[in-house]
Amino acid sequence: MPLTLNNIATQGKHGSAMMPIIQGVGRAAIEISAVLRGAVFRGALGQAGGENVQGEQQQLLDVLSDEIFLDEMRSTGFVCAVGSEEQEELLVIDEYSHADYLVLVDPLDGSSNLDVDGPVGTIFSIVKRKTANTERPHVSDTLQSGREVIAAGYVLYGPSTMLVCSVGEGVDGYTFNPATARFELSHGDMRIPASGGYYSVNESNADQWLDGMGAKLEHLKSETGLGMRYVGAMVADMHRTILKGGVFLYPADSKNKTGKLRLLYEAIPMGFIMEQAGGKAMSSGIEVLDIQPEALHQRVPVYLGAGKIVDTLLG
Ligand code: AHG
Ligand code: MN
Ligand code: MN
Repeated sequence: MPLTLNNIATQGKHGSAMMPIIQGVGRAAIEISAVLRGAVFRGALGQAGGENVQGEQQQLLDVLSDEIFLDEMRSTGFVCAVGSEEQEELLVIDEYSHADYLVLVDPLDGSSNLDVDGPVGTIFSIVKRKTANTERPHVSDTLQSGREVIAAGYVLYGPSTMLVCSVGEGVDGYTFNPATARFELSHGDMRIPASGGYYSVNESNADQWLDGMGAKLEHLKSETGLGMRYVGAMVADMHRTILKGGVFLYPADSKNKTGKLRLLYEAIPMGFIMEQAGGKAMSSGIEVLDIQPEALHQRVPVYLGAGKIVDTLLG
């Protein structure tokens, strides 16, 4: 009998508390993946007509995925509030506002890939509230550094649907088995290879990068001879980076002076996973997990990969 998401209950100090929430992520993933597969038949591809708080066009599937994820978090009974890339404000779950945990989510990552049937993902992290559970959860509950994250992970909607997660005791990958309708452990104890792999970056921005990153990347290329891959969905690019090695980066540039990727929805959860997989997660001169968040939708530069490769890149 393969291990399922129930396996999480046996892991670390917080595994049993995290299991129902991560099972909720699993249910959301199954539903989102079904919606993605049928989207073209239901006219669900394309723009929703609105913008999110970051001024980006929302796609219909961004909005649908956000609703599905929130409903599944509500149904766990253990989540008091959700901070979402698609929502300006923290969403308090009124029925369970006394619950202990908050979830931060990028419901649909890489949504520009939807039009071309490319891979997309969901990214999440879980923190314990700071406010007393007799109070209404507050946005300050979400502004916790990556060192305080209890669990994090991502779902990759590729040829198969995979849920990769960590409760602070290594990283495991579960693949959805359509025959059993369960996520089954397929990639136990994922570790990033120390050498080899690929560098992964939108190199068309190179002449606009700040912090001398253009020259630094040229140096890395000549030192390591790494090949290049870039999907444009962080989940897909990170998943490959963990399995094959190398580095994924999104530096600051003259358009995005503090970087493009979101600290709470992308950088911290992926930084947590990268460290748990034996790799290194850097921002500008600081480890991603040491950054003290100041705002829900804050952005930061990211350099995530094998330790030696990240060090060679950043000099
Ligand atoms: P999202 O679809 O959630 O807005 O995230 C897109 C992000 C990330 O997934 C990816 O790494 C990056 O944007 C790609 O950006 P570029 O198109 O600028 O390369
Ligand atoms: Mn994203
Ligand atoms: Mn998104």
